Amino acid sequence: MAGKPGYDGAQDWRAPVRAREEEGAAGAANPFGRGDPAPFFFLSACRFQIGHNGALKIRITRQDPMTYAAITGWGKCMPPSVLTNADLATFLDTDDEWIVSRTGMKERRISHVSAIEMATVAAKRALACAGLDAADLDLIVYGSCSNDEQVPNSASGVQIGLAAHHAGAMDVNTACTSFLYGLSTASAMIRSGAVRNAVVIGVELISPYMDWSNRGVAVLFGDGCAAVVLQASEREEGVLAEKLGCIAEARQTLRVRGMGCAYANRNITLGDTLWDFDGQEIFKRAVGGMSQASEAVLAKRGVRPEDIDLVVPHQANLRIIESVVKRAGLPMDKVMLTVQRYGNMSAATVPVALVEALEEGRVKPGALMLMPAFGAGLTFCAHLVRWGERVTPIGHSDAELPPSPRSALEIVNGVRAIRAAQGGRSDAGLISVEYAEARQR
Ligand code: COA
Repeated sequence: MAGKPGYDGAQDWRAPVRAREEEGAAGAANPFGRGDPAPFFFLSACRFQIGHNGALKIRITRQDPMTYAAITGWGKCMPPSVLTNADLATFLDTDDEWIVSRTGMKERRISHVSAIEMATVAAKRALACAGLDAADLDLIVYGSCSNDEQVPNSASGVQIGLAAHHAGAMDVNTACTSFLYGLSTASAMIRSGAVRNAVVIGVELISPYMDWSNRGVAVLFGDGCAAVVLQASEREEGVLAEKLGCIAEARQTLRVRGMGCAYANRNITLGDTLWDFDGQEIFKRAVGGMSQASEAVLAKRGVRPEDIDLVVPHQANLRIIESVVKRAGLPMDKVMLTVQRYGNMSAATVPVALVEALEEGRVKPGALMLMPAFGAGLTFCAHLVRWGERVTPIGHSDAELPPSPRSALEIVNGVRAIRAAQGGRSDAGLISVEYAEARQR
């Protein structure tokens, strides 16, 4: 594999950096102190001072080796109740053929527990997998756009569930990209030295907020959760590069009316939602944003498409994934797919797909992975992730959800019945809100 700019050996953790150095690019991760004599790094290690007698003093400092945020643990928590396309067709004017041909989705999960409960189980499993005690956690990042409560935040609910008493706890909401934005946040905090051990969660409980009367969105989404543990490492693992972006000019193309303070005191029942959803426009923007971000991260590290071992994309629609992967010049057999079984779980899709890729043995030691995603906002991103040597769990947690007393269809019909009993939707309150984009005009 000589000459390949990506990973080419179990100990070859610096290959992408070296590839860029070979190309003469400046700005690679600072390798001073690792035997790289480049003048740029020599100068960056010098401290210049004018002494009290006017003489110039040069002090040479040796910098610490670069810290990375390795992914050392992983765990998922999928609610057991399955909602099939046939179930949806019992109350919507839709059918299996339309849903499969337009989206690739066959079924999705509906949760009988809160999002925090799913997140706590997933995080316990990820901690056991890493062999890390919850007491040693410094940070919990909870990526979601369907929080159980607005105040207090959700990450604090996970902190108490884990008994991670020394951990900071924060929520990140960038909709479907929340897990990957959270991964960037926690990785940056680890690299800066602010924390050493973190859990990053991607979780979504969309079913209580779904407009079950709208076939254009109700067939697309599901509930689920997964988490990873990040730990400080001097080996070049974890996020190697990311590109974060947001096409705010298109923010009105995906809006869930009825979630948030803008709807307070407007005679709206919480859970009564109206979805603004311009599927075709989002589709185009999603393909463009994910492709542009993927290209940017590969270029950042001098990695070629053929060096990518596995793509773990956001799973909103099989056709979107196929378009992004084709544009990136990658074959579909390098893509981890869960969209058929779980639909779009928003922030949970990428971490659940990652966990299942590990469970299926599709992540090899030292693998180089590309993780593109997009979501409401319209936020988009792509992450280039280097896996470490270990691809099997250190330990297993016995944490489990309680069994579901109802089928998925019974849970959904329960939500529909409550809404019907409340007299239907409060349209006036849901449509009379003034939004940020209108105020800017
Ligand atoms: N079952 C049957 N027919 C349906 C349907 C359903 N569940 N939903 C929509 N239709 C109908 C429409 O009413 C329309 O009928 P018409 O031609 O008589 O008007 C027809 O199917 C085509 O709808 P269209 O919107 O053109 O379909 P599409 O091929 O664009 O696919 C999406 C729709 C939503 C699957 C697709 O646009 C998409 O995946 N968009 C992006 C996904 C996304 O936004 N995810 C969330 C963000 S992460």
